[in-house]
Amino acid sequence: MNNRQGFSEGFLWGGAIAANQAEGAFDVGGKGWSTADMVPYFEKKDYTNLRELMHVTTDKVEKAMAHYSSEGYPKRYGVDFYHRFREDIALFAELGFKTFRLSINWPRIFPNGYDEQPNEEGLRFYDEVFDELRKYNIEPLVTLSHYEMPMSLVLKYNGWAGREVIEHFVRYAETVMTRYKEKVKYWLTFNEINTTIIEPFTGGGIIEDRVDNVMQASYQALHHQFVASSLVTERARQINPEFQIGCMLARMIHYPATSNPEDVLQAQIDNQLNLLHTDVQVRGSYPSFMTRYWSDHGINVIMEPGDEQILRKHTVDFISFSYYTSLVSAVNPEDYGVTGGNLYSTIKNPNLERTEWGWQLDPVGLRIALKELYDRYQLPLFVVENGLGAKDKVEEDGSIQDDYRIDYLRKHITQMKEAVMDGVELMGYTNWGAIDIISASTSEMSKRYGVIYVDQDDNGQGTLNRFKKKSFDWYQKVIASNGKDL
Ligand code: BG6
Repeated sequence: MNNRQGFSEGFLWGGAIAANQAEGAFDVGGKGWSTADMVPYFEKKDYTNLRELMHVTTDKVEKAMAHYSSEGYPKRYGVDFYHRFREDIALFAELGFKTFRLSINWPRIFPNGYDEQPNEEGLRFYDEVFDELRKYNIEPLVTLSHYEMPMSLVLKYNGWAGREVIEHFVRYAETVMTRYKEKVKYWLTFNEINTTIIEPFTGGGIIEDRVDNVMQASYQALHHQFVASSLVTERARQINPEFQIGCMLARMIHYPATSNPEDVLQAQIDNQLNLLHTDVQVRGSYPSFMTRYWSDHGINVIMEPGDEQILRKHTVDFISFSYYTSLVSAVNPEDYGVTGGNLYSTIKNPNLERTEWGWQLDPVGLRIALKELYDRYQLPLFVVENGLGAKDKVEEDGSIQDDYRIDYLRKHITQMKEAVMDGVELMGYTNWGAIDIISASTSEMSKRYGVIYVDQDDNGQGTLNRFKKKSFDWYQKVIASNGKDL
């Protein structure tokens, strides 16, 4: 697949969304509560610590569950993809999408997570979505778990901290993989699996005030997710040997703040802690440095006999990752200013510009990330999230002149192409958002990523009509020329 000219024939261009940020219809078709439904919207101006917005405690859960309405909870109404998917997919087809990444909303299929039987209405919904994609020859790329865990599992087992969840997840995965075995070929088990450590409620369904040691519970939950991912990979190969199974990492590339060896060491540690996830899912075992890391932090991850073998046997076919920005590591981070991200904050890189939300713009970092991942694992890579969150203005003539988004995408795709010419095997690229959806971290609507504009504001007001932005025509041209016309 290496291509000195640029992207390979059959390169999978497309866009990506998550069910909880797009579908809405939180109370339709038998769907149960999900973790995303617990997160309210509130205005926030300091973007250096967004993690606290997604952070959910017992009192927040109780309040959210007592409020059976979508008012004030944007992820409950999304952008109504649930009812408008045909219109949206027609626009994706017009863009020339070869693939479309979406997640299945787990509690639409198993409303409580532990139900004996799946919910037929939920299964039928995704049948219709996949059929619509097939109509246009758009290949679905499906995430099984994208911050949408059934709340009943959260309440019963404290999310992934409970080993019992493995069996429920495997049953859910088996159900959908069997049902859609002729309709879906590419599957991702967990979106940004490293989120479980960074924001344990979002990634692992752990309510922190219910555990004594959050770090211990998070690494235990992560271990359960690794085992579940491997078991699902095993089942997937039995269901359809043609399936391609990927892991998904939020690649957080860390640069040392200076050439001081202490800073370099710190960056190495931060990178190791990020790549730990792909190490397990690609190589099939924990990297050796984790033993000391866990012991230094008083963590004892309980593994059952057979776990190590499961991890070793059922590794992934390809590596997918999200890339938005790069981070900086230093032994004395307080010497530098802090800037935002979504799940994390980092210290400022004086060489990079920042978005309104504090994300540092670093297209070259994507090339570095691609080359490094390929050097380390020699497995095909897939960039399944990349994009710019920005405020868009609708002009009087109705147009949206989002040159800043075109600039961001152009620079990142250019670097991606360089990486391919460097010999990296790259399967595809799905820009994040494709269509404007609710922000994962801030629950805002005004932080927009799409090349398709959705008329809705932060309070859920608007017609929900879809409009093409200037970047729509640009991305269409990029896809039609297989990345030559940038
Ligand atoms: C990724 C998530 O971390 O970043 C997406 O997988 C999310 O769900 C995306 O939407 C962008 O982050 P945000 O907070 O700006 O929506």
